[in-house]
Amino acid sequence: MRPLRHENGSLLLLDQTRLPAETEWVACSDAAAVAAAIQNMIVRGAPAIGVTAAYGVALEAAKGRADSPAAFRLRMDEAIRILGKSRPTAVNLFWALDRMNGLLGKLEESNSLSDIPLSTSDLADRLLAEAQAMEEEDIAINRRIGAHGNALVPDGARILTHCNAGALATADYGTALGVIRAAHDAGKRIHVHADETRPYLQGARLTAWELMQDNIPVTLNCDNMAGWLMANKRIDLVITGADRIAANGDTANKIGTYSLAVLANYHRIPFYIAAPLSTIDLGMADGTRIPIEERPARELTEFRGIPIAPEGVRVYNPAFDVTPAELITAIITETGVLRKPFQKSILGAFR
Ligand code: MRU
Repeated sequence: MRPLRHENGSLLLLDQTRLPAETEWVACSDAAAVAAAIQNMIVRGAPAIGVTAAYGVALEAAKGRADSPAAFRLRMDEAIRILGKSRPTAVNLFWALDRMNGLLGKLEESNSLSDIPLSTSDLADRLLAEAQAMEEEDIAINRRIGAHGNALVPDGARILTHCNAGALATADYGTALGVIRAAHDAGKRIHVHADETRPYLQGARLTAWELMQDNIPVTLNCDNMAGWLMANKRIDLVITGADRIAANGDTANKIGTYSLAVLANYHRIPFYIAAPLSTIDLGMADGTRIPIEERPARELTEFRGIPIAPEGVRVYNPAFDVTPAELITAIITETGVLRKPFQKSILGAFR
């Protein structure tokens, strides 16, 4: 269930704004088109955004095959700038752009020392290979997250998840849904409760759909039912993904995640975050300065063009919230399960 594929010089993105009603692919051929697709949430989910942005750089590089080295660098700087402005919260976007820029910097440096420098066309080939490697690495990482997380899932577990941290939000397999997939594949009789995830309905439209495609038992609930489900002992654990994890474990994820963590804490239910190390921002000491995207008012006031609130009403629409580390039981990464104190375990994971 890959949400993106590079084919014949374009990047094809499964249009996640149309799912589950329609399965349509959108073709992008340059960085500006990719940035618009990220901004408009045709592709979404932190790791998928990162890999897509890397392809955005690679597509633009391919357009510059005949450029002079100086023009190529200008083109790349502009591509990275546009892509970097597409969405602010998921750090995987900046991680991916830094990785592409870092590779280009290294190639330029060795070019400056070489008698037979690489052509701009060669540079474009290298950048495409890097984006492809990032896509494949992401899938391998998610499988490792799944394997580590599976150990935390008891047979018969009823698991609550929020938003979509599945194959659709990554190159494939998913992070939180990767753990769920691994538990299901291990033969555990699990049942998933998917929060619908207002206002953009990633849980209803994407998670429920994705799990049904894989025959993983799933029940849809409104976000405001989570407390009642927990109070009635219908949830054994909560797993979500993350958009950015600070060095102390504070975690930004889809709006509503914080409320779930508070509820899980009150009901003494384990609350897990599943995310790759590329979602950890060691430059942020804690979650207080994580930029929180605010999305357009119409995401709350309309549903597919149909008004569901009085015209002109004032709206506040933050797309993410930050869950304090103290409410998180563990963070499941590709290197293993990180426990408190997170400052120490997170640093250890990068060694
Ligand atoms: O606004 P979205 O749909 O991009 O938000 C996605 C989430 O919050 C996910 O939980 C997160 O990116 C992790 S995806 C593996």
